[in-house]
Amino acid sequence: MLNDLPVWPRLLQHHRTIRSLRMRDWFDGAQGEDRVARFTLEAAGLYLDYSKNRIIEETIGLLLQAAIEAGLPARRDALFAGELVNVTERRAALHMALRAGPDADYRADGKPVMPQVHAVLARMRTFSEQIRDGNWRGHGGQPITDVINLGIGGSDLGPRMVCRALAHLSVSGTGKGPRLHFVSNVDGTELAETLAALDPQRTLVIVCSKTFTTLETMANAHSARQWFVDRGVPEDGLSRHFVAVSTNTDAVRAFGIDPANMFEFWDWVGGRFSLWSAVGLSISLALGHDAFEALLAGGREMDEHFRSAPLAENMPVILGLLGVWYRNVWCMPTACIAPYSTVLELFPAFLQQLEMESNGKSVQLDGEPVRGDTAPVVWGTAGTNGQHAYFQLIHQGSQIVPVDFIAPLSTPRSLPGHHAKLLANCFAQAEALMRGRSEEELRRAGVLDPARIPHMRFEGNRPSNMLLMDNITPRSLGALIALYEHRTFVQGVLWNINSFDQWGVELGKLLARPIEAELSGGEAGSHDASTSALIERARAVLK
Ligand code: F6P
Repeated sequence: MLNDLPVWPRLLQHHRTIRSLRMRDWFDGAQGEDRVARFTLEAAGLYLDYSKNRIIEETIGLLLQAAIEAGLPARRDALFAGELVNVTERRAALHMALRAGPDADYRADGKPVMPQVHAVLARMRTFSEQIRDGNWRGHGGQPITDVINLGIGGSDLGPRMVCRALAHLSVSGTGKGPRLHFVSNVDGTELAETLAALDPQRTLVIVCSKTFTTLETMANAHSARQWFVDRGVPEDGLSRHFVAVSTNTDAVRAFGIDPANMFEFWDWVGGRFSLWSAVGLSISLALGHDAFEALLAGGREMDEHFRSAPLAENMPVILGLLGVWYRNVWCMPTACIAPYSTVLELFPAFLQQLEMESNGKSVQLDGEPVRGDTAPVVWGTAGTNGQHAYFQLIHQGSQIVPVDFIAPLSTPRSLPGHHAKLLANCFAQAEALMRGRSEEELRRAGVLDPARIPHMRFEGNRPSNMLLMDNITPRSLGALIALYEHRTFVQGVLWNINSFDQWGVELGKLLARPIEAELSGGEAGSHDASTSALIERARAVLK
């Protein structure tokens, strides 16, 4: 744990030394250019400017020392070597293998995994081309025009986000292929509203679930199946309308999907790291399999960078260290993700699962409680919308929120003049957060009312990262996602936690089962008074 490392007292001492220094002074004159040259990185088509952070050279030195003392290089090697880094489930976390070439030597439990990875990729390509070319037909002989991905969490957020980000390559943009719909919530409204607009003869459902036991997905799958039957699709015609993505062949068969229509992945793929596996089938269907493979290539490029770049020039490492710097040394409880790009509007939600499910932990690898804090609350929306909602707090609120700005420099589907305005706002926010606005500057700008000056001054000195890419392509998006995956891992190492399990979501699932039975008319169970009253109230309406 960071707090236990030999370098920790020096980090605290260093913080005391620099906490009153102002970033804007570090940008004065020529030293500003040196600072930018020193604190920028490029990798896999991404450009990271981290100069607007509360850091100096010595800070990075100390943080790198922390990484060494935490054993980051060895832990990274263990990850890539397929060791059982997910210690509580005794599993490897080998999502990097899903985006590797056929000649790579990834092994889980000592066994090579690349042959099975590429066998599934080949099946995905064949199926994707059949659907997109109209050669896979519904039971009545109609081509498939609409595909629904039924999944939740990692079986939803990744593919949903990617399909949104690259929508210009889909049928709604310049591409062909079916329209994709994503249904995750067990609130039947989502599925009902989706189905209402669809023709069962032309619809295909992907039941996407690693375990094939998740309540939400299975409830939606059963209701979708009933919808087909109610609308005249015979039981023996359902195989033309249902495929599965899972690790659980028995459960897929028990649901009634022929394992021949199942796309497999493996227990060494964590749910929130799974979009690169057959979970990405929806991506391949919506955008074409070549685009899916380009996404994998972008992820692979970032893997190579993470694996081989020196720590000081390693983008996921630097971002991870900055994250712990603010979380643990400055005690900042939240972190904002601000993509200045409508197509990345789902990226913050994707990162919420990635970071908070991975690193929202209070126990170290050996079962000892963590000392200090782990994952911050991650939040954000696409810019410029956030500016007109919560940026007030980021500029002048009583707590400091580090921001990751993410901006493509061009966009395939915009209108003349818009993108320059969007980027101008993005860069201006980062500049304003760093510089602030002094009383002197206000007076020079003609603000002379002493009653207003305290309200209108900006303290500044608020940190941000700026991540740029030329445009959002499958490749750059793949690199961006893999960057945050590895950053999440780096932070987990600094906190000495297992980033690959998620026991915290189990208890609520367990308790929901008897409550559901009670809501459906079963006997009242034993609960606290508040929960019992809530159940009673709901029963009265559900009757
Ligand atoms: O929310 C818990 C979780 O297990 C996530 O980690 C996972 O991505 C999601 O549920 C869905 O699980 P499955 O793919 O097994 O349906």
